Amino acid sequence: MSREAPRPPKTHALALLILCLALVPSSLGMEVTAPFTIMALNGSSVRLTCTFNSCYRVEKKQFSLNWTYQECDNCTEEMFLQFRLKIVPMEQTRFGDRVEFTGNPIKNDVSFTLHNVQLDDEGTYHCYVMNPPDRQKGHGKISLIVITEEPPERDSTVAVIVGATVGGFLAVVILVLVAVKCVRRKKQQRLNTDDQKTEEEGKTDGEGNPDEGTK
Ligand SMILES: *[C@@H]1O[C@H](CO)[C@@H](O)[C@H](O)[C@H]1NC(C)=O
Ligand SMILES: *[C@@H]1O[C@H](CO)[C@@H](O)[C@H](O)[C@H]1NC(C)=O
Ligand SMILES: *[C@@H]1O[C@H](CO)[C@@H](O)[C@H](O)[C@H]1NC(C)=O
Repeated sequence: MSREAPRPPKTHALALLILCLALVPSSLGMEVTAPFTIMALNGSSVRLTCTFNSCYRVEKKQFSLNWTYQECDNCTEEMFLQFRLKIVPMEQTRFGDRVEFTGNPIKNDVSFTLHNVQLDDEGTYHCYVMNPPDRQKGHGKISLIVITEEPPERDSTVAVIVGATVGGFLAVVILVLVAVKCVRRKKQQRLNTDDQKTEEEGKTDGEGNPDEGTK
């Protein structure tokens, strides 16, 4: 079926490997991305985004996630959300039923949404991720600031929120792409010729029918 000769797989894999190494600094371990600060209006819902990147596919059996809340710099961290195979029910957290897990570990997203934000919710939120066989634990941290009314300089607040949202979104996109590439790189190493053919096929179809363009 494939008309073109497949690209040399070695170059391809090497490029991906370099990309992967470049984006997974030094340790080759888990990298977690979270916005530094999120502002939320009292009474609103806010999504605290935390994404991670790992060159290993997420195996639900081993994957582990903890979210903790820390009220002040030297306060102890209270765990309020835990994921092991699924969300582990936690009793009597300070947030009651206002916490909703809105991430998807398979897609490297472990975000949650906090509903009906209260002034007391201000503080630092930590996400901890473990994705064996990655040995390192990933750690991300977010400061939540609760505002009671939209300040007069609306634009700047909106800009901050939009900025954080867009930044978070881009981070997700980038991380997902890297993850996909890592996975693909591994797959290619295993079944490289078959994989390559499928990919080339897709490209040829996308470029239109070559039979028509003979002039
Ligand atoms: C929270 O916001 C509501 C309006 O949504 C306001 O009436 C209330 O006073 C605010 N609470 C505090 C503690 O500021
Ligand atoms: C928290 O740390 C500050 C110094 O950073 C210290 O002055 C304060 O006593 C500490 N608070 C508690 C409750 O340990
Ligand atoms: C989450 O907490 C549990 C219990 O404290 C701990 O066993 C586990 O290693 C933690 N996982 C992460 C990713 O920190």
